Amino acid sequence: AKDPVRVLVTGAAGQIGYALVPMIARGVMLGADQSVILHMLDIPPAAEALNGVKMELVDAAFPLLKGVVATTDVVEACKGVNIAVMVGGFPRKEGMERKDVMSKNVSIYKSQASALEAHAAANCKVLVVANPANTNALILKEFAPSIPEKNITCLTRLDHNRALGQVSERLSVQVSDVKNVIIWGNHSSTQYPDVTHATVKTSAGERPVRELVADDAWLNGEFISTVQQRGAAIIKARKFSSALSAASSACDHIRDWVIGTPKGTWVSMGVYSDGSYDVPAGLIYSFPVTCKNGEWSIVQGLSIDEFSRNKLDKTAEELSEEKALAYSCLA
Ligand code: NAI
Repeated sequence: AKDPVRVLVTGAAGQIGYALVPMIARGVMLGADQSVILHMLDIPPAAEALNGVKMELVDAAFPLLKGVVATTDVVEACKGVNIAVMVGGFPRKEGMERKDVMSKNVSIYKSQASALEAHAAANCKVLVVANPANTNALILKEFAPSIPEKNITCLTRLDHNRALGQVSERLSVQVSDVKNVIIWGNHSSTQYPDVTHATVKTSAGERPVRELVADDAWLNGEFISTVQQRGAAIIKARKFSSALSAASSACDHIRDWVIGTPKGTWVSMGVYSDGSYDVPAGLIYSFPVTCKNGEWSIVQGLSIDEFSRNKLDKTAEELSEEKALAYSCLA
């Protein structure tokens, strides 16, 4: 049997954590033949709730779950972890300035980066979920210089899956028959959900989404804003964040990264930009990627029309501003 994989979830007592840890323990993230040891971190005010989650994990008697570490000590939490899913962070509260929220998260991600750098397993893969996800990941990368930059990513798979879902609803086709949408840029309302290269499997072979939808006004307007605003729409409806779909998408992100993307299919991941598609190098930016042997690579050579170009640039600009704001918090 394979050795168990140690998976860290920070913010594990929160909404997403509560949805995510049972998925991991059931094999949704790493497969039904891979045992896991869960490391759960939260902060002292949530320690009792975190212990309650641990009790439930015991009670659920998951066959794949070989151990649970529940702690408020970041060093203990990071020890030997192979995968780190960073869900903990400081949420924006009413009346708070953007800079104050950024400053709180920069200091959290700086210190957690140092703990991962010192205590995680070599080649640990990191997924940042907590907002501002791209910039938190960038700070984590800056303060964990011994973790290869290709190992530090952020979650835009939820946005990707939302885009697949919208196309599938619009065309009344199975979501599993839709593929190769792209989320470009920031996990924020400036993200660009792009269907230019997306296809649907039909009885007549793979057909472009644009041709089947045949409504560019919808694709270039309402579709984009629906995906961009979906998080807010879920909060309005549920009074809580989109925890179920965020947790499920985090599992998709890690699973595809570790196990590989199916042939002919790409997914969206927030990764360190190497300047592909004229996106400034050194930002964590969401690109279309394929994964193989535990490594992602950016899909190259896709055509970018003028409409898309503007949108790619706009979300890059926002990320550059966030980066500058984050650095001003460090100074
Ligand atoms: P939540 O508030 O229910 O849970 C957050 C948890 O993090 C809390 O238990 C809190 O005590 C903990 N926490 C705070 N500071 C911490 C620290 N320094 N170390 C460890 N834990 C800490 O929030 P929820 O709904 O679970 O969302 C978590 C984050 O994920 C938020 O930042 C949210 O904006 C983000 N999010 C990102 C999505 C994405 O697609 N990238 C989608 C949905 C949410």
